[in-house]
Amino acid sequence: MTGIGNGVPRVEGRAKVTGAALYTFDLQPSEIGATQPILHGAAVLSTIACGRILALDTAAAEHSTGVRLVLTHRNMPPQAEWGPLNANVRFARAQPVFGDEQVRYFGEPVAFVVAESFECARAAAASIQVQYEADQAHTVLDSEHGIDPAPLHGGQSSDSSVGDFHGTFATARHRIDVQYETPYQNHAAIELQASIAAWDGDHLTVHTPAQITSAARTGLARTLNLPEDRVRVVARLIGGGFGGKLPYFADAVLCAVAARQLRQPVKFSFTRQQMFTATTHRSAVSHRVRIGVTTEGRITAISHDAVSQTASFDNYVDGSTAGAKGLYGAKAIRTTQRIARLDLPRSDSMRSPGDANGSMALECAIDEAAHACGQDPVAFRILNDTRVNPTTGRPYSSRHLVACLQEGARRFGWEERRSGRKGEWLIGQGVASAMRDNLVRPSAAQVTLTPAGQLVVRLDMTDPGTGTITILTQIAAETLGLPMEKVTVMLGDTDFPKTSGSGGSFGAESSGSAVYEACLALRRRLDDMTKGRDASPETVLRLVGEAGGVTAEGKIAPGDETKRYSEASFGAQFAEVAVNVHTGETRVPRMLGVFACGRIINERTARSQALGGMIWGLSSALIEANNVDHRGQMAMRDLANYHVPVLADIQNIDAVLLPETEPVANPLGMKGIGEVGINGAAAAIANAVFDATGIRIRRFPITLDRLL
Ligand code: MOS
Repeated sequence: MTGIGNGVPRVEGRAKVTGAALYTFDLQPSEIGATQPILHGAAVLSTIACGRILALDTAAAEHSTGVRLVLTHRNMPPQAEWGPLNANVRFARAQPVFGDEQVRYFGEPVAFVVAESFECARAAAASIQVQYEADQAHTVLDSEHGIDPAPLHGGQSSDSSVGDFHGTFATARHRIDVQYETPYQNHAAIELQASIAAWDGDHLTVHTPAQITSAARTGLARTLNLPEDRVRVVARLIGGGFGGKLPYFADAVLCAVAARQLRQPVKFSFTRQQMFTATTHRSAVSHRVRIGVTTEGRITAISHDAVSQTASFDNYVDGSTAGAKGLYGAKAIRTTQRIARLDLPRSDSMRSPGDANGSMALECAIDEAAHACGQDPVAFRILNDTRVNPTTGRPYSSRHLVACLQEGARRFGWEERRSGRKGEWLIGQGVASAMRDNLVRPSAAQVTLTPAGQLVVRLDMTDPGTGTITILTQIAAETLGLPMEKVTVMLGDTDFPKTSGSGGSFGAESSGSAVYEACLALRRRLDDMTKGRDASPETVLRLVGEAGGVTAEGKIAPGDETKRYSEASFGAQFAEVAVNVHTGETRVPRMLGVFACGRIINERTARSQALGGMIWGLSSALIEANNVDHRGQMAMRDLANYHVPVLADIQNIDAVLLPETEPVANPLGMKGIGEVGINGAAAAIANAVFDATGIRIRRFPITLDRLL
């Protein structure tokens, strides 16, 4: 079980389940190369949504046992200004902390205590008194406040228009015009956001679980006005990313500043409660979806207008319209994306950003359209399939949505399905399509064959639990014909070649291709070395030993194919629900996802990604949301009241990966799989709830109070 495609268990799985794996906050001085003890930080967060700090009483904290430093806006050293907002890489922007006395959201860090122990730091932080002057805060997502066009990407608007939408829609036989609301969601990864900073002379090393270490390095260097080559960011293991660790956060900046002043390493983790405001969340989004359909069930017009919340000082857009642009072949398609700047914490990426919620609106509206014209929802999607992305005009490099729908319908027993009442339960079934655009990002890798015959692979890619270490081990082992035990993959260190990092479903194919290319380069070097001699393994090893090891590098970047093709992963989601007629409780006895995501490197980790996405889809459909209370704070602030599915919520769930050849995206024929699994999953459940009850809930999640 070593080659590409096999469901090899995670290389680091045993270390993780036995507790031997060390995450950032676990690291001790010896593990970060420090000789001094590590000091501990604790943070104080704001308790108004908008306004300014009038007074900060830190005297008690400063005189508290074991306290070494109290940082606030009054004594914070100079930092770069926030931004720039138009930075190419948003996660590499400067993020000053305690820049001034302004408060921009409820739960913004306002003070930081460093002490000899965690308990001393926490006790001192609790003694800090802050007085505020509050301004009127705008924290409600409506069409009244703070609406701006979405920022341009590379000079281009994300709005789109093909054909005459208004004319085509007006004359359509069936017209769907519906408003869907998708809520705030918070990151609930098991690993909290934490950093350890240590200085060696004027060189800074920050251990922090950043999905893209190179972006965190650039951002920290900018914030602290340091040359980039004096900053190193390390993220060896990440306990769940999901986009919540794409940015770096105040913990990294505060630890770096405090460690420099105190000449001693400093560690700090936000608490679980602080995570809900001091890190990022999924935007609430308002969606208006319009679909025009002919008598025969042909979609002629689609439009999707989305408004997503962003922070007052930010321009993040949770772009929800990719599905409308590319899933179905209509002759008139238009989309718009707006942002609503509110006095709330920053929203940013959360698994399948934009598409996760966009597909909730679009795929429910598609179900409404199928019902309006009397079509079966599976047949309706198949009838309206397209080979060409109608918005870009480019053919899909590979697209097997129809195969996913057909195989899913067969496995799920779609034709034989039974809706109706069973005892006190209303049974229904639903379906939805899934799509996630495919991306390759520039990435490089270095491989070294040591004299001992071990292959060491180095790149700054990260593994947030997805299985990256394992698939890169498989790719290297197969490409060089080595057993997996002979391959060591080292990730998460800006001293290693720069990659895409982990995010946007681009990580596996970008870093995987870089490793593959590096292994091919190594093979060429070994071939050159053995030219004219016998090429037995013994000879190769002897020559490698004489050379003191052989190293090669490889890289990948998106090529011309991106101008000629649209690239995406596809899937079909099926769900059965049972809704209790008395309580409105919705159970999900069955979920099935069928996906076509190019070549699968590891059947086990890929399927786990799909299942995890589907479970999050169930969560989005029925359970998960945060609300902003009257003070402008996120009302749910711990895992007791921020509800996510538990094992008892998951019954019969399966994910199937169809074999698929992807001809152009990258040399390994891979496509993204990290995010497509959540897309459409919530809509399939919502559509099943409609099938069971005849009720369309257009505000997620579908909690029992909304059904009764
Ligand atoms: Mo993903 S939400 O881009 O880590």
